[in-house]
Amino acid sequence: MNYQAAKFVISAAKLRDCPPDSLSEVAFAGRSNAGKSSAINTLTRNGQLARTSKTPGRTQLINYFAVDESRYLVDLPGYGYAKVPLSVKNDWQVHLEQYLNKRDALSGLVLVTDIRHVFKDFDLMMIDWARKRQLPLHILLTKADKLKRGGVQEALGKARQALEDMPDASAQAFSSLKRHGVDILAQRLDGWLGE
Ligand code: GTP
Ligand code: MG
Repeated sequence: MNYQAAKFVISAAKLRDCPPDSLSEVAFAGRSNAGKSSAINTLTRNGQLARTSKTPGRTQLINYFAVDESRYLVDLPGYGYAKVPLSVKNDWQVHLEQYLNKRDALSGLVLVTDIRHVFKDFDLMMIDWARKRQLPLHILLTKADKLKRGGVQEALGKARQALEDMPDASAQAFSSLKRHGVDILAQRLDGWLGE
């Protein structure tokens, strides 16, 4: 699929603001600052598409990008950012959960995790949720440029072990900085969205 053609569609605050639930989409989830928006920009070769930031909590809405007329990439708000007021945090949590539980168009979940932190509580929760919903899962161990080869292999081993009992789960090392692993990601998404 030509991910470079992706265009911004809408920022939705909650499930009912999302586009009609009739097409096919993949969502990028993960902790705040993990590198979700950067991964989308790397995949689409468009540094301007999804807003990124050094400050965690940049993406606060459910951002939709259309690859073509029937397929979307979805950038979800980051999870676990402590400095956001509790009320806002609770709000996000509710919207995120509603999205994950109710969105029929969701064909697969990309869980973006900093390769130096495999896995934190939130990630385990998301993996569990994908397991229960039997949703295809792909883990991007990103910021791989921050580790030496041995560290990358170790993290990858750890991640794959956590996915052992899941028939449709996979993990890869990724770096937006070095554009490492983009083809593997694109292939996995092609499989979910249909070529
Ligand atoms: P929220 O929107 O806050 O949930 O964050 P996010 O997960 O979308 O993270 P974002 O893509 O904004 O990236 C956060 C920070 O990590 C930015 O400063 C990025 O430049 C940096 N970053 C993202 N990916 C990589 C990577 O592969 N390598 C390195 N070294 N830095 C990265
Ligand atoms: Mg973001």
